[in-house]
Amino acid sequence: MIEPMQCIGYLVRFLAFCHLISFISFSTVEARTRHYDWEVNYEYKSPDCYKKLAITINGRTPGPTILAQQGDTIIVKLQNNLLTENVAIHWHGIRQIGTPWSDGTGGFTQCPIQPGEKLIYKFVVDRAGTYTYHGHYGMQREAGLYGTIIVLLPNGVSEPFSYDYDRNIILNDWYHKSSDEQATGLSSIPFVFVGEPQSLLINGKGKYNCSLLTTPGACNATNPQCSPHVLTVVPGKTYRLRIGSLTALSALSFEIEGHDITVVEADGSYVEPFVVRNLYIYSGETYSVLVKANQDPSRNYWITINVVSRKPATPTGLAIFNYYPNHPQKPPPTVPTTGPLWNDTTSRLAQSIALKARQGFIDTPPLTSDRAIVLLNTQNKIDGYYKWALNNLSLTFPTTPYLIALKENLTDAFDQNPPPDGYDFASYDIYRVAKNVNATSSNRIYRLRFNSTVDIILQNANTMTVNNSETHPWHLHGHEFWVLGYGMGKYNMSSDGKKYNLVNPIMKNTVPLHPYGWTALRFQANNPGVWAFHCHVESHFYMGMAVVFEEGIEKVGNLPSSIMGCGETKSYNRPRP
Ligand code: C2O
Ligand code: CU
Repeated sequence: MIEPMQCIGYLVRFLAFCHLISFISFSTVEARTRHYDWEVNYEYKSPDCYKKLAITINGRTPGPTILAQQGDTIIVKLQNNLLTENVAIHWHGIRQIGTPWSDGTGGFTQCPIQPGEKLIYKFVVDRAGTYTYHGHYGMQREAGLYGTIIVLLPNGVSEPFSYDYDRNIILNDWYHKSSDEQATGLSSIPFVFVGEPQSLLINGKGKYNCSLLTTPGACNATNPQCSPHVLTVVPGKTYRLRIGSLTALSALSFEIEGHDITVVEADGSYVEPFVVRNLYIYSGETYSVLVKANQDPSRNYWITINVVSRKPATPTGLAIFNYYPNHPQKPPPTVPTTGPLWNDTTSRLAQSIALKARQGFIDTPPLTSDRAIVLLNTQNKIDGYYKWALNNLSLTFPTTPYLIALKENLTDAFDQNPPPDGYDFASYDIYRVAKNVNATSSNRIYRLRFNSTVDIILQNANTMTVNNSETHPWHLHGHEFWVLGYGMGKYNMSSDGKKYNLVNPIMKNTVPLHPYGWTALRFQANNPGVWAFHCHVESHFYMGMAVVFEEGIEKVGNLPSSIMGCGETKSYNRPRP
């Protein structure tokens, strides 16, 4: 079958054909099962013209798009052909209701898949929207193991907005060092940070300036793998762009030169539409935006992504917004924008606050919560190693995955004491480098009462560098949460809760914590399983910036033995599927 999302051409006739296919394939059948056979490999790729090893799925990075309809069952047979590395893939934004063992989080919900082995992921996509998938073991995501999931509405249901064509844009940042080399630097003394990425990628394509290299052998500016992505548009038509970011580090600003962008969906929820010139997007977020091809059609325009929130040292990422019938590769006659000021936190905060649930589609939150957990986000040292911590605990993953340990009652697999629900509110100064930067390693988890309503308040602080606080995009597995509010400075326990938006808060699965600010979330602990909640910056997660929630473990069905075979479950038999 031809997938409509893969139909990217610049002939009108061809576009119309794709549209017809999509009509035929989604107007007939009820919920169905979609099978995918995926092989994961290392291959030489040149996404930004520089040749390096990348992790591919069936030869591609980004991997194939999963296109399904709400209610469908997805079955992915994942064959690990990496010679010396384990692998696991997470389905980001899919709640895994009833299948917590298919969440794909190595060390949390499964043993990673060993070289030469296979695992079958099976889950239902229960909610229409735009989602992603990516490696969730070590730092493999940034080696190129990622892609898009699109879930269409059930038959007979339509979107509350209209458009002519649907297109995907997946954003990433790209490093020339291997993820192993980066991970080793992060866990060494002296500490070696990954630094700013070499390139920004739009649909897996970027452009590194090969002449910067002393030995340019591995870099070839004319390699077709790094020709810019072209989005061809027909004058007068409206495009729904499904934009996802899976950057390792960078917060991005996305723009289409000269065109307004109307935001209509975020992480699978409808947004009360609002118009922007540039869209801020953080790692782990997805948006649908509408763009009308209503500018002078005699030329092409730049699609740009720029780094914000860190002092940029990476060139603008470029793609071409090509008006048919201009030549698709014809560069626009203008200089691409370098985006908004990188340190304009105010405008980023304002856009976060502008995101509200769409009238007519508001799922209102419970007005009160049963428990509030405040998480102080800090950069720390443990025995001289650089780490990130929450309430002074930095997560280390146990060798026995939490889901298995809890379900099988392996109480020695991790520290059974609860981590703290708060920090020293009264005396901690979030604007200063801490007097004592030392933290503690921990594999403790938060156990939530099943069906209770939980508030999380993320509190940002100064890093170990004077006058520095970073942006952390926080992602929750297994749920979506209501975004109740954002603020600057220290969260005030007696007054800020009164200012929560309980009327039309957006529901998301990833949300930014802005520098020196706080972000408040509410969710219902109603999905039996064990769920990671972590910063989506790959290096921060690797350095311990994560917590774990358990709820309703007694309601989790029998675990498939295929997820076992590591840690204390080594002796469990692990049949080959
Ligand atoms: Cu997209 Cu646990 O991450
Ligand atoms: Cu972070």
